[in-house]
Order: sequence, then C-alpha cells, then structure tokens
Amino acid sequence: MSVSSHSTSFVENTIAFDLVRVTEAAALASAQWVGRGCKNDADGAAVEAMRKAFDNLAIDGVVVIGEGEMDEAPMLYVGEKVGCGGVPMDIAVDPLEGTTLCAKAMPNAITVLALAERGKLLHAPDIYMDKIVVGTGLPEGVVDLDASIENNLKNLAQAKRKPVQDLVLCTLERERHQDLIARARAVGARVQLLTDGDVAGGMAASLTTSDVDIYVGSGGAPEGVLTAAAIRCLGGQMQGRLLFENEMQRQRAQAMNPGQDPSRKLGLHDMAAGSVLFSATGVTTGALLRGVSYHKGHSQAITHSLVMCASSGSHSGIIRFIETYHQC
Ligand code: FBP
Repeated sequence: MSVSSHSTSFVENTIAFDLVRVTEAAALASAQWVGRGCKNDADGAAVEAMRKAFDNLAIDGVVVIGEGEMDEAPMLYVGEKVGCGGVPMDIAVDPLEGTTLCAKAMPNAITVLALAERGKLLHAPDIYMDKIVVGTGLPEGVVDLDASIENNLKNLAQAKRKPVQDLVLCTLERERHQDLIARARAVGARVQLLTDGDVAGGMAASLTTSDVDIYVGSGGAPEGVLTAAAIRCLGGQMQGRLLFENEMQRQRAQAMNPGQDPSRKLGLHDMAAGSVLFSATGVTTGALLRGVSYHKGHSQAITHSLVMCASSGSHSGIIRFIETYHQC
C-alpha cells in the first residue's frame, strides 16, 4: 500500500474524530477568556490545551505552521513533533484564529487545525499573503489573483449566471483594502467587511450555506495555508502569493521552501497537496460555527465543530458538523 492511499484511508477512517477533540480542547480553554479583553491569555490557553490534546493523536506529526520559531514559542513551534506515533504527517495549527474577536466577544473566533501527508503543506513564514477564493462548481480559473477586481467580478457573475450587483465580496476591513473595496462597490458588488478572521472569511466563499461569492485580500500567510486546506476539502478554488516587506522575509521563505520561487503565484495544491484533513471548532458564535456555550450552571459545555477531508484526487464533498456535550 502506498503512503498516499494509506494516509487517505487512515485520515478518513481513523483519526477524524480524534482530530476534532484537539480543536475542541483549544476552544474550551480559550472560551474561558471570551470578552475578558486579554487576547494573549486567550491564545496561551488555546495553545496549551491544543498541545496537550495532540498527545493522544495517533500520528507522527511535525508542526509546519504553528506559533512561531522554536526560540519564539514554547509550544506548537515550527518543527515541533506532536502525536503519539503513527503515520508521518505535516500539521498546520492556529489554536485561536481571531484572538481579538475572542478578547472582545465578537463573532467568528475559531480554533483550527489541518493535517496533510508529510511534505505536502507549504511552509509559510509569519508574513502576509494575497488571497483569492471562490466556491465549488465553477469553471477552473474563473478568477485570478493577477486579474483586475473588475474582471474577476464580471467573470464570476457570468459563471454564476447572476448580475454583479448580486455578488458579495468578503474582505478584511483594512486601510490596505480601501482601493479594492471602492472598486468592487463601483461595479455594483456588495462588500462584506470582517474585522478579523480570514480563515472563516475565505471558507465562506466556498460554503453553499453562505452568501459570500468571493473572498479577496491580504492576510496572514499561515492562515492562508489553513484556508487552502479547508478549500481543498470544500472543493473550491483558491490562489495565493506571499507578500514580502523586505529581502529578509523573502530569503526566509526561500529557505523554508528550497528549490521553489517564493514569489510565485500559488495554487491550492502548492499550499496543501495530497490527502488533507481539516478541523475547526467555534469559540464565539459566527456564520461558520456556533461558539462554546455552557449549561447546567457551567457543569456542561457544548462545542460545535466541523471536520472534513480531501484525498489527493478530489474533495470528499462531506462536511461533518459535530456537536459535543462536555462535562466540566
Ligand atoms: P490573530 O488571530 O493572530 O489575531 O489573527 C487574526 C487575523 O485577522 C487573521 O485572520 C488574518 O489573517 C490576520 O489577522 C490579518 O492580519 P492584520 O490584522 O495584520 O491585517
């Protein structure tokens, strides 16, 4: 049996539910900090809980997207080995995606994790990435990172057989996106602005249950890899490109991905190839997932997660939403 087919069946049949426990643990820990104005404490609690939960996962994992370099982060640092042994896998984590959302009790804080066969995830430094995402069932290349926003919206509207006026573009509300927002509105599209959380934003463009037709804009590169893993599972399209503020950042990306041009336009499979598994749990309630809630005088907590996978050939098309009752 090849590593690929072994990993696929392993991922799909064995560890999906174990994986959910890892994002659930991080969500339960960070939920204690919702609305308390302490984003670092919330993040720290999520990291610690996620790190501990990995000890029960039957994989030979290496963190490739994590909390930073070994000297910057005590846990879940890039290169750290996690899991209690099994199939070799690359791991991308964001123990708390939307630290400010959690600290301010705002929608869409989630805990996120992706797994892929060893060597199949882009090693992205903590810099920015330009991203564009659309959903499933559209002609390949219907939008392109290098095309103008006007052309992308026109082509997308044509493919979706609806007027541009009915398209919803989602992006982070940032100064750097002012031109993009103005141009999208000028051709008639609606613009949905996020204060934070572009993993959930990117996924929204690929979820049939969401109003969002396209996600565009720059955000964290690690979040870009996690989004790519999710989009692989959802069957949408995504392109990305690392953005360098200086030569040092470019050299760092080059060193992390030897033999590749770090400035190139990245397709989905450049960011997350082979068999991929993705899990996310809500911390605060948002469009993607409900947050952690408590019952019976805080003796019971309820979490809401989604778990999905893709094989090297295609996405499974299956999204599992999991509601779990935890005794506190
Ligand atoms: P944190 O969870 O690390 O606070 O990141 C939130 C986030 O909004 C990401 O979703 C996004 O990729 C990034 O920050 C955008 O960065 P910036 O706030 O610098 O525009």
